[in-house]
Amino acid sequence: MRVIKRIAVLTSGGDAPGMNSAIRAVTRCALAQEWDVLGVRRGYAGLVEDEVEPLTGRSVSNIMQCGGTVLGSARCPEFEAEPTRRQALRNLQQNRIDALVVIGGNGSQTGALALAEMGLPVVGVASTIDNDLAGSEVTIGVDTALNIALEAIDRLKTTASSHQRAFLVEVMGRKCGYLALMAGLAGGAEIVVIPERETSPAEVARQLRAAYERGKRHALAVVAEGALYDAAKLDAWFREHAGQVGFDTRTTTLGHVQRGGTPTAFDRLLGARLGAGAVAALTRGEQGVLVGLNEGKVTTTPLTEVVGVPKIVDPELFRLASVLEK
Ligand code: F6P
Repeated sequence: MRVIKRIAVLTSGGDAPGMNSAIRAVTRCALAQEWDVLGVRRGYAGLVEDEVEPLTGRSVSNIMQCGGTVLGSARCPEFEAEPTRRQALRNLQQNRIDALVVIGGNGSQTGALALAEMGLPVVGVASTIDNDLAGSEVTIGVDTALNIALEAIDRLKTTASSHQRAFLVEVMGRKCGYLALMAGLAGGAEIVVIPERETSPAEVARQLRAAYERGKRHALAVVAEGALYDAAKLDAWFREHAGQVGFDTRTTTLGHVQRGGTPTAFDRLLGARLGAGAVAALTRGEQGVLVGLNEGKVTTTPLTEVVGVPKIVDPELFRLASVLEK
């Protein structure tokens, strides 16, 4: 087993509330093993450009309650090219780094697997507001994003009621409907539109109209950004088919507001547990794995079983949403 003396940690892809808690846990748990810790700035972009700095117990203090990531993050499509990854490996070698912890979602863990296959000991930490990463039932950031979406939905319902309107609310999630489904369930939506289940605009209109006919003062459709008919397309359809909904309609796209702000207690704790889990995995000699949470326990799953593997939205929850919608 390779002796570890020095590790690096980076955050990559879309930032997620709770990442700072994971950085802090990785740093402090590694220091407790008497390893040195380097923080890589701006994800894989900083790895390629050798933007690293030592992390100490003090430098990660007072960050847990902050959203975003103190290390910065970036999308780095260049990292898909092997020469770029070779440059990153050279930089890691020059800095005498024995292992790398990658905190991020799908794209980030794809990069982590590529590095692992080139011989670098890498451990991933499941972190994305989309919750679309196989290998962890829940990822860092999704709880905060969901709570932000819910607060917005609750607010929209009050103005919707005052004006007797229907709202289309679009939430993030890339190609995954998890955030939309959960926000719809917890927000009392009339209908949830997700990429995993094709829903026609006519069906959305039918459900909103049914709410109108039941005498409701407002109605709500929660729409995932990755759905075949996203909020913009539904909005355009409603304009062309005015009068089919009963209600006057308005559309709100929540966008990046869902990624900002203070992490919830759940995301802070998850960040702490998964960050600590990454160091624990390295001490056991595990590498090329993703640290996640499954059945309430911190687990590791080979990155080969994570990358490119779709995560299925629970069909039971979708059924529950359609019952509770009525
Ligand atoms: O992966 C997180 C996420 O917020 C997605 O939900 C969204 O589609 C995407 O990132 C937005 O990416 P960017 O911040 O690069 O615009």
